[in-house]
Amino acid sequence: MADGRTHIKTLLWSLPRRPSLVASTTTPLGVVVFLYMNIQENVSLAQYTTLKIGGMARYFLVARTTRELIDGIAYAKQNDLPVFVLGGGSNILLDDEGFEGLVVKIEIKSVESIDRGDTVEVTAGAGLDWDTFVADMVSDELYGLENLSLIPGTIGASVVQNIGAYGVEISSAVLWVEILNTETNNIETLKNVQCEFNYRNSIFKSNKHYIVTRVAYELKKKANLQTDYKDVAEYFLSKGIEDPTLAQVRNAIVSIRTAKLPDLDTIGTAGSFFKNPVISTESYKALLEQYPAMPSYSIDSDTVKVPLGWIIEHVCGMKGLTDGSVGTHDKQSLVIVSKKNATAEEVKSFAKKIINCVKEKTGIEIEREVEYINKK
Ligand code: EPU
Repeated sequence: MADGRTHIKTLLWSLPRRPSLVASTTTPLGVVVFLYMNIQENVSLAQYTTLKIGGMARYFLVARTTRELIDGIAYAKQNDLPVFVLGGGSNILLDDEGFEGLVVKIEIKSVESIDRGDTVEVTAGAGLDWDTFVADMVSDELYGLENLSLIPGTIGASVVQNIGAYGVEISSAVLWVEILNTETNNIETLKNVQCEFNYRNSIFKSNKHYIVTRVAYELKKKANLQTDYKDVAEYFLSKGIEDPTLAQVRNAIVSIRTAKLPDLDTIGTAGSFFKNPVISTESYKALLEQYPAMPSYSIDSDTVKVPLGWIIEHVCGMKGLTDGSVGTHDKQSLVIVSKKNATAEEVKSFAKKIINCVKEKTGIEIEREVEYINKK
């Protein structure tokens, strides 16, 4: 029969033999504590991306709490490993050769709210699924996120990417963002203005040592709906709805997105692959002479934004075009889709064809929305 001592011995033997899976930290009292982490090795990353592409992560950690994240970063530092933080994997193209460092999948999923009178401050963990959160806010009758329904990804990605759709950008609802600063190992809070939000961009894209842990949104209790985006306005007109409710706006967005964008369960995609370019009014006028139907959205007196999907379809003739396992979506040319077994290299070379065509025919240099993640 096993006594207490044999039990401890068995427990010790069942711990991993590899010291590499153990990190150490020193407490404020100077005591060195060894941390055993559930780090997996050689994990296929394709399953964690919506493009369903990507090689192996040499090391892989699921961080369910800020503590686990901090410990994971300590482990990476002690072992000199580069770190890549994975959210919903909906806006990245991972290398076929994988990632030779530590991939941390953030799964911090807490939600707290504070009633502030006319508004509610809702704080959500970075790993929470974005659309589940939006659905919950809509059923709680809180306004502000409904136009961003059905966007794939996580709470963390919502601010990194400054997600936007149908006339709303998430920056309009963000109060503050909590991060782990991996250079100082401190948890810090950035107010909205410090996040440097602009079109599909934020401070978190360039400052890779900031890892988002929680985001606080300010949501409104009173109706404040934005339904003037072309597709949304047309939807309500076709349904004969003049004064939609919050739930009806969410349903409209879900319906529009489902009709235009590919089903993530059946096809690989990362949504819009490129950003809509912002060009000078002068260049736009010159392009209009060649392509009189080219639409635009005014930014200010000097610049306009042009819908790249229109250019890819009407100027490059590439809507629904397939090249091997990769192509543009047949209902939205700005979206690249990939079939099973497509490789990152195939996607990159297809994207290059689009970049070259747009440059050649319009002179516009386009920028990717999707981030390429390389081996190291
Ligand atoms: N268009 C075409 N052909 C196409 C695609 C679009 O002619 O193949 C035209 C449309 O008819 C419309 C205009 O281009 O006149 C704009 O199209 P759409 O409303 O579909 O929006 P988008 O500019 O292509 C942006 C966002 C989407 C977001 C929609 C709706 C970017 C890079 N993309 O696309 O975001 O859902 O607006 O607000 O800004 C994403 O970022 O992944 C994404 C899907």
